[in-house]
Amino acid sequence: DTIVLKIQQEEKDREKLRQAAKILRKGGLVAFPTETVYGLGANGLDPEATAKIYEAKGRPSDNPLILHISRREDLVPLVKEIPPVAEKLMECFWPGPLTLIFKKSALVPKRTTGGLDTVAIRMPSHPIAHGLIKEAKVPIAAPSANLSGKPSPTKAEHVMHDLMGRIDMIIAGPASNIGLESTVVDVTSAIPTILRPGGITYEQLKKTIGKIEIDKGIQEDLKETFKPKAPGMKYTHYAPSAPMTIVQGPRNAVIEKINKSTEEYIKQGKKVGILATEDNVKKYSKGLVLSLGKRDKPESIAANLFALLRQLDLEGVDVIFAEGITSDGIGMAIVNRMNKAAGHRIVQV
Ligand code: TXA
Ligand code: MG
Repeated sequence: DTIVLKIQQEEKDREKLRQAAKILRKGGLVAFPTETVYGLGANGLDPEATAKIYEAKGRPSDNPLILHISRREDLVPLVKEIPPVAEKLMECFWPGPLTLIFKKSALVPKRTTGGLDTVAIRMPSHPIAHGLIKEAKVPIAAPSANLSGKPSPTKAEHVMHDLMGRIDMIIAGPASNIGLESTVVDVTSAIPTILRPGGITYEQLKKTIGKIEIDKGIQEDLKETFKPKAPGMKYTHYAPSAPMTIVQGPRNAVIEKINKSTEEYIKQGKKVGILATEDNVKKYSKGLVLSLGKRDKPESIAANLFALLRQLDLEGVDVIFAEGITSDGIGMAIVNRMNKAAGHRIVQV
């Protein structure tokens, strides 16, 4: 049975966090909110505990986990070395939505890193995540708390939907405010490389350290020839059950195309879901139209996206059309997740 612990404020609930931390120390699984998405935590230094994560999620065992820490000094025993560029990045973006890949120390079990000699580390800023990790007194391995292949959970109810009965505890706090996973940056390569776009943008990273590359395996036009370096990026992911198509192009052409396709599907007796930005919602007369958020406030789209994909599943739509989004700033992460959700079905009008 899964215990559901409701927490709204970390300070008032220290006792509850202690209870959760005790489960983690005993080798159990606890889902908890972070500023990016909800995580499914286990003691990252206990291979038997991390094995349970893979089982509960149905996650392939070669997909490595991120270790979450609450204090800068807790990094030292987990890694072989800390490159100067990592120091800079941690100073600017920790705690927060940035995960760094280091060479791992012998302390970190290969079960946690999917057999790799490197380890991913992040220090979340969310007060509940921070308090829980601090109380646990061990690094917490935590992937997103969804069933493998489903959109990451941004609300406690998403975690309950996927993992009720499969884990020991769910800390039900507020919705995650960023709504997309952390940016993963490999600092072991000569030039730091973004392996997964996320909450910290390419522009922010470039401004801080000057030189930064983007893994060829996650770049749309190069994907056919290069394999992504983050094992998790190669799996189908974030996918709603219904096939989704992204329509890109000038505003009016996009609206016209989606309206036309929607009409055709409805004639065939199909239920159509449409993901449109706030300013365009009223331009669609048929289908189930959901607002992604404001085009000039892409953070709102980031925060809504995963919940909307889950909602479309619950509504039982047969096909989904989504308006394309521009890929600067946080847009790079939004486009990356939307393309994956669409299985790269992208139409240019
Ligand atoms: O925001 C987040 O990062 C959330 C919250 C819970 O912290 N966690 C998360 O974990 O998204 P997960 O397991 O769903 O995604 C981790 C990603 C995967 O794509 C994985 O392949 C990659 O990071 N990764 C982990 N360790 C790695 C390593 N040593 N080398 C390369 N990629 C790694
Ligand atoms: Mg995940």
